[in-house]
Amino acid sequence: MSGQQANLTWKDGGVPVSERFDDPYFSLQNGLAETRHVFLDGNGLPDRFCQGFHIAELGFGTGLNMLATWALWEQSGQTGVLHFTSFEAFPMAKPDMAQALEAFPELAPRSERFLAVWQGGVCDLGTLRLEVIEGDARLTLPAWAGQADAWFLDGFSPAKNPELWENQLMASVAQHTAQGGTAATYTAAGFVRRGLEAAGFTVERTPGYGRKRHMTRAVLP
Ligand SMILES: C[S@@+](CC[C@H](N)C(=O)[O-])C[C@H]1O[C@@H](n2cnc3c(N)ncnc32)[C@H](O)[C@@H]1O
Repeated sequence: MSGQQANLTWKDGGVPVSERFDDPYFSLQNGLAETRHVFLDGNGLPDRFCQGFHIAELGFGTGLNMLATWALWEQSGQTGVLHFTSFEAFPMAKPDMAQALEAFPELAPRSERFLAVWQGGVCDLGTLRLEVIEGDARLTLPAWAGQADAWFLDGFSPAKNPELWENQLMASVAQHTAQGGTAATYTAAGFVRRGLEAAGFTVERTPGYGRKRHMTRAVLP
């Protein structure tokens, strides 16, 4: 356990910005659209959804990615349980999460259901089983017994949060990816792509969201 909470300032239309990393939690333009483009489309979702599907994420933050994924899971007709595991070193206080998620009225019914039961750790949301593993992912991921079908690599920008993108961690991501599994991230930073390649992924640079020209998609052959 890191035991350290996120310290925030608020920008523009209610976007939380980490004081520790001096970086926003989601796109200043449209966080939900970016989540859909980068992490959902980027991992071939919803087409790849199937019973027992497991998503893992580096950086739980506000829970936005989880909520958007849960919505897509149900909208795509899945009725079973989606597994979603996220690694987070500096958990956000619940009132801060609630404030951040207010920017996405479309997700409000799910945000409310989530926040009503969220106490950290494991959370049963009916069609989604969430586990947030607290602590530095460089220590907690190697110790994880799970395997993910899709990864959301969502640290702060590689320049400001390099520890969440380092080669050894990318190797650990690969070790915890099912065969044929995928990873996606909003960044196309060269060292991140090289780290994923060195870990065994086949890496592709594809059009990014908004002002970002490129993003990265990776498949474990
Ligand atoms: C861009 S934010 C994630 C946004 C989030 N996915 C969402 O839907 O709101 C990056 C997250 O990575 C977390 N983080 C930074 N360094 C970390 C580390 N070494 N281990 C685990 N989490 C870390 C931060 O605390 C922050 O919550």
